[in-house]
Amino acid sequence: MMAEGMDASSSARPFAARVLSALAGAPKAAAGQDRFQSLRDALDRTRTVTLQQLAQAAILAACCGTAVLAVINKAAALASDDGYSLVYVFLFFILIIGYNLAQKFFTKGAARDLEMALHDIRGVTATRIARLDLRHFESFSNERFYSALVRYYEMISMGIVNLLSGVQSGILFLFSICYVFYLSPAAFLLTLVAVGFLTYGYLMKAGETDGARQEAAVAETRLMDGVHDLIQGFKELKLDPAKRAIVVDEIKACSAQAAERRSHANDVLTDLIVYINSTFYLLSGAVVFLLPLFSQGSHEQIERLVMVVLFAASSLMSGVGATVQTVAGVRLAAQGIRAFEGELDGQVETHDDDVGTTTPPPFRSLALRDVHYTHATGNGDQRFSIGPINFDARPGEIVFITGGNGSGKSTALKVMTALYPAMGGQLLLNGAPLGVGATESNRRLFGTVFAEFYTFHRLFNITAEREPEMWRLLTQMQLAEKLPGGLMNGFNPAALSTGQRKRLALVIALLEDRPILLFDEWAADQDPEFRAIFYREILPGLKAAGKAVIAVTHDDRYFDVADRRYHMDEGKMRELTAA
Ligand SMILES: Nc1ncnc2c1ncn2[C@@H]1O[C@H](COP(=O)(O)OP(=O)(O)O)[C@@H](O)[C@H]1O
Ligand SMILES: [Mg+2]
Repeated sequence: MMAEGMDASSSARPFAARVLSALAGAPKAAAGQDRFQSLRDALDRTRTVTLQQLAQAAILAACCGTAVLAVINKAAALASDDGYSLVYVFLFFILIIGYNLAQKFFTKGAARDLEMALHDIRGVTATRIARLDLRHFESFSNERFYSALVRYYEMISMGIVNLLSGVQSGILFLFSICYVFYLSPAAFLLTLVAVGFLTYGYLMKAGETDGARQEAAVAETRLMDGVHDLIQGFKELKLDPAKRAIVVDEIKACSAQAAERRSHANDVLTDLIVYINSTFYLLSGAVVFLLPLFSQGSHEQIERLVMVVLFAASSLMSGVGATVQTVAGVRLAAQGIRAFEGELDGQVETHDDDVGTTTPPPFRSLALRDVHYTHATGNGDQRFSIGPINFDARPGEIVFITGGNGSGKSTALKVMTALYPAMGGQLLLNGAPLGVGATESNRRLFGTVFAEFYTFHRLFNITAEREPEMWRLLTQMQLAEKLPGGLMNGFNPAALSTGQRKRLALVIALLEDRPILLFDEWAADQDPEFRAIFYREILPGLKAAGKAVIAVTHDDRYFDVADRRYHMDEGKMRELTAA
């Protein structure tokens, strides 16, 4: 997949890294330095073709292009005198073949390199998102994640070939203008003046297109919120025309704003392209009308000069044209990725390096001592806190947690599992404080069915020898008929009702065979039949198997199942002593 010979210059920064870095803008000193580093590092890992090889190919392509021009020019001069030699025809074809090979090497190599760099950054970003602390994860909207992993990459990918052809045209221009200088310094000067106009026009308008596109992107992000409402709230909207109209109107308003901003960007772009083309025409006119005034060349010489100047100018124009249409969007996306990376920097947690390869030590006890936690957000200054929490769980013991709605039970479960960081007090595992970075091993002790659980479409790390157990559980939960293929080879939870899906989540949690089982109001939406199975069969079975069971429950009929009970009230937890 990668080009050969890449090891030879492995110390060279890859082309892609430079281009993307440049597009994202120079890092702001000091504060921005580190955050930019991660992008750079990610880019440095991808290396297919070195910058040096690419530069050589691009220069070779431009040399061939310019030489084709020179050969044509020379042959034309000879033809008008006493006929051209076949050597020129031969040379002409050789140069075209050379151009073909070099141009393809450059564009394909650089485009592949850029795609690989993008792929690499995306992989790093996905890993970093997966490592986010739950607390920080909750501070991002879904749309941000989709943008950061999908949308921005599309925007950059779509611009790659355009940008590269812009770069190539620029190089070709540099070569051909040298040839113009060789033919006529006066024509060279005229071309430089045209370049001056072009640069001026671009500098005047580029900021404006960027700005308009940025505003369009903001409007589109808000559009995504509206689309999210439309999809997720489809049933509710279906039942209420007024609600529906408001949501659809909001979508339309954002869409109109995006369209308006985009149109503005297009207007500016059109102005710029027309300006570029006009400069091109002016230059051609200047060569025809002005040059004869300054040079004594023959009619034919002037004609040929016009051809060369137009060739040089057109390569510049097409290069600038390709670039201006693309660079704003690509820059926007590169900045978006960089900004997202910057936000991750403050938030990524340090996991232990142990990612599940070692077996955790046998579980003997879990304890929370005076643990506090405060949510990151809340209404106004009302951020909800829990604590002090004092809590114990041991193998072979069933513990119930009760408490009113919003008393902090679910929050407490997330602190116990180290999904939320304890902000005060201590988590003790087997009597020893859970060290910094040991959270991962702690989490691996838990099999869970949270209130907002998610069922994947396949099992992870469950071996085939658990298959009989799987069938036993599926039958017990009356899911065997619903999932005739079992779970071992993937399954589709979408066809299950919410209650059935929760039973499936229970089956999966049990199959995972972890030392602590944690259920957040599991029975809340189950029939009495399944409640009875849950409290009278499953929980005692887990206890008998030496598991620790922590269950949040409201089912007072079954409180006798618990060995111990805790009660939560406004974030405070106390153990209930048997009356
Ligand atoms: N991610 C969150 N960010 C901010 N506040 C939250 C978050 N999750 C829950 N809360 C708040 O914490 C309080 C307790 O919630 P929760 O622990 O889910 O209670 P329970 O499970 O006992 O019903 C609620 O007032 C809720 O608004
Ligand atoms: Mg809850």
